Amino acid sequence: MNVAPIRYLPSALRSWSRETDVVIIGAGAAGLSAALDASRSGHRVILVCKGNLRGGSTLHAQGGLAAVMDSDDSLGAHVDDTLIAAAGLADEAAVHQLVAAAPSVIRYLVELGAHFDGGPLGLEGGHSHRRIVHAGGDAIGAELHRALREAVLTSDVEIMEHTAAIDVLRNSRGEAVGVIAGRVDQTFQQRLDVGVIAAYAVVVATGGIGQAFASSTNPMEVTGDGQALALRAGAELADIEFVQFHPTVLYVPGQRGQSHLITEAIRGAGATILDGNGIPVMLGHHERGDLAPRDVVSFTMFQRMHSPGDPLPNLWLDARTIGEARLEKEFPTTLELCRSAGVDPVNELVPIAPGAHYACGGIRADLDGNTSVRGLYAIGESASTGVHGANRLASNSLTEAVISGRRLARQLDTALASRSVRSTIADFVEPTRGFGVEPTTRASLASQMSANVGVVRSRSGLEDVLETLASTPDGSAAAVDLPTLEATNLHTVSLLVAYAASLREESRGCHRRSDFPNVSDDWGQSISLHVFEHDVVARVATLADA
Ligand code: FAD
Ligand code: SIN
Repeated sequence: MNVAPIRYLPSALRSWSRETDVVIIGAGAAGLSAALDASRSGHRVILVCKGNLRGGSTLHAQGGLAAVMDSDDSLGAHVDDTLIAAAGLADEAAVHQLVAAAPSVIRYLVELGAHFDGGPLGLEGGHSHRRIVHAGGDAIGAELHRALREAVLTSDVEIMEHTAAIDVLRNSRGEAVGVIAGRVDQTFQQRLDVGVIAAYAVVVATGGIGQAFASSTNPMEVTGDGQALALRAGAELADIEFVQFHPTVLYVPGQRGQSHLITEAIRGAGATILDGNGIPVMLGHHERGDLAPRDVVSFTMFQRMHSPGDPLPNLWLDARTIGEARLEKEFPTTLELCRSAGVDPVNELVPIAPGAHYACGGIRADLDGNTSVRGLYAIGESASTGVHGANRLASNSLTEAVISGRRLARQLDTALASRSVRSTIADFVEPTRGFGVEPTTRASLASQMSANVGVVRSRSGLEDVLETLASTPDGSAAAVDLPTLEATNLHTVSLLVAYAASLREESRGCHRRSDFPNVSDDWGQSISLHVFEHDVVARVATLADA
């Protein structure tokens, strides 16, 4: 298929400069964890975030943290569940590391002052045991973020809110030595006051790519910035075609931007997905029924919604059997979100449809954050550590974000002691410049992504999207501004997802092709992508090669 070159951003005069040991881009679970530990180790840390400190997906997490906390559960069972969900593409060593470290994440957060719910552990799709730790019923993200945020606010970390990372600065040896960033003009959000933060370590912790799709649970600022800037800086991305679509996203006709998630834990408590005739959709499709892995549930829903004789724009979630008292106690966030949209789950069916939720792939990195570019690190959802493979197991990502943030901080102690890295900081090369893409094209591209690169994909739909991407008009801004930055990054990650999806001629995990409906032994390997002279180049490699 024809794949257009990626677009580069317009330049801008630089009006300020800073210097630090570590610059961390993003203040979610990953960025906050890394910042806190790196600062406690004595490194100078600047943490930049595009909006205020409360941006990103972390705050919105409802379900919980997956960790083996019960004697009738085992690390082996958690490993097995993660590997089954990952459908043959996970890096087993990384999965073992994640699962082994998960219980210590809970203890660490408690030490920081996080309050988790007592009582029985929760159950979510794909888990063979109850192992989901909750907070505030269905408000894990808010509590986890509060604990980390308050610790960071009382540390020596310097926080730069309303500051968007634009591009990575590299030296003549290709090593990352800083970031070009723009302070967002708060009265006129278009403008960026651009400057440079020179640093010995550049950490990408910008979260996922959800806003590449018209329907997504991710907040508006989650626009794939980190993945796009890392690609422009020469880094490899992997498994980017595996976008997880959450089955139960509140359906509001025509809604764009961030859609409300209805936590899977509510199905763990007994809620059922029904079609328009009240028939349970998962019946007979999987032994775990409504608690099958997410890819299975979303795919089954898609098939029902597109059934030729009776197509439906949405399905329904029936949580009425759970009862008002339990819903109020265990799912206050879900109730509030639904009621604010005019639906009361206590006595009404909730309209739902699958929506883009989680990027299983991203910047290729190990669990310590090392990428293919020296000095550039990636953690949290922006990274592809091999833990999730072709599909993430529910509630494994917050644990991964904290683990990778903390492991990265530990290894910076060694990396930053190296004199050869320290000596490179002053010499940098200007990044490639272009026109970006026209910001007004963002909405129609997102609609096309949802329609053609969503739960089920096909060659013709992917070709249509790649043609749209090739013909997207250039931006016209004289200097880089926020809308151009985000639209260009969304264009880049859309191109990567559509291209990798077009290459993968099989159905595996959360990548489903109507024209290649089965798993193929030929495709039991990751697709890595990088840029060479503006063109995206694919490398198909097993994780063992990496
Ligand atoms: P985020 O929390 O997304 O933070 C990204 C940060 O980067 C933000 O501060 C943002 O402002 C900043 N940023 C972005 N671009 C730029 C830029 N250019 N310059 C500067 N800053 C930038 N996972 C679970 O394990 N359990 C759950 O129960 C769960 N529930 C979820 C519910 C919802 C509604 C959503 C959306 C996700 C959920 N997930 C859950 C997934 C999980 O929340 C995310 O994977 C995780 O929070 C990602 O953390 P992060 O630190 O990598 O990124
Ligand atoms: C949910 O609560 O359903 C989301 C959990 C997750 O994404 O891990």
